[in-house]
Amino acid sequence: MKTRLLGNIEVSEIGMGCMAFSHGYGKIPPEEYSVEAIRNAQRHGCTLFDTAEVYSPGLAGIGHNERIVGKALEPVRDDVVIATKFFLDRSEVRHGSVYDAVRAHLEASMERLRTDRVDLYYLHRTSGGVRLEDIAEAMGRLIADGLIRGWGLSQVDVDVIDRAHRVTPLSAVQNIYSMVERDVEKAVIPYCLENHIGLVPFSPIASGLLSGKITTETKFETYDDVRTWVPQLSRANIRGNQPIIDLLGDYAEKKQATSAQISLAWMLRKYSNVVPIPGSKNKERIMENLDAAEVELTDEEFSALDEALNRCRVYGHRGFTR
Ligand SMILES: NC(=O)c1ccc[n+]([C@@H]2O[C@H](COP(=O)([O-])OP(=O)(O)OC[C@H]3O[C@@H](n4cnc5c(N)ncnc54)[C@H](OP(=O)(O)O)[C@@H]3O)[C@@H](O)[C@H]2O)c1
Repeated sequence: MKTRLLGNIEVSEIGMGCMAFSHGYGKIPPEEYSVEAIRNAQRHGCTLFDTAEVYSPGLAGIGHNERIVGKALEPVRDDVVIATKFFLDRSEVRHGSVYDAVRAHLEASMERLRTDRVDLYYLHRTSGGVRLEDIAEAMGRLIADGLIRGWGLSQVDVDVIDRAHRVTPLSAVQNIYSMVERDVEKAVIPYCLENHIGLVPFSPIASGLLSGKITTETKFETYDDVRTWVPQLSRANIRGNQPIIDLLGDYAEKKQATSAQISLAWMLRKYSNVVPIPGSKNKERIMENLDAAEVELTDEEFSALDEALNRCRVYGHRGFTR
């Protein structure tokens, strides 16, 4: 697969979101299935794997997903880029330095990930009440220590990105971005492009909506399933967003691809610094999503698709909260 840069970290142009093996989309597969699915993705050319310390069933524990990712990638550790994330609350720095607190999170993640370094370390949310500049400075020290290669922020607007980037240059920003969540196009992506920061879209298939496989009849799971509250997936909004689903369906037919692939090919074609991390707990769909890198939209096809999309109203908006 072709590669792109997140800061100075080279990754496959489509990465793999590993969250659903532990959290967010209902029942989780057996561990061996998840490990095999991750290894298959790596053999298929994927080199970016995304996890977080908090991804555990029901968000009730710590580290379930990191353990799976660590087990899967241990044999190929030097060939892949592992990205993980941590939260930091002000109570954790009451009696010690921010650096020590961040390092404690990192060391626990490294142990679960069976590695001596994390390639890309994200602050998961900036809401913990710790001064961002202090965290950025700690990240700079961790880079100097050789414990991380680069750092990133998640769900942040451009003023926050700028404050952090001035202290320790960011490698990546991980925000929600898809055909139905386009806030980042206004200021975040232009800033990132200008400053050589990668933009890693999470939920790039809008939690399944853009695959065209979700209908008003689809029943979501009752336990630990984000689709029960993702705004675009309410019955009324699925109906409202049908023109976008139809548009993708038309292109899929024309390009002999799937709707999910077209939605990923669209963002790859639109911005050179975008590296989506679609998530799936299904081995076949993981391959399908990685193969979106092979779907090339011509200039004409891209412009027509983008313009048609701009004419569609989007029903439901998640934004930077949650
Ligand atoms: N930074 C943050 O705050 C944050 C928040 C959320 C997620 N993330 C990261 O971003 C990654 C991706 O997010 P996400 O999982 O919400 O994204 P997503 O890929 O937009 O949505 C996943 C959902 O779409 C379905 N799906 C995926 N590909 C499909 C396809 N080709 N055809 C039909 N259905 C398909 C999956 O079902 P199946 O599993 O049945 O295939 C699953 O229900 C996560 O794994 C996580 O690493 C980060």
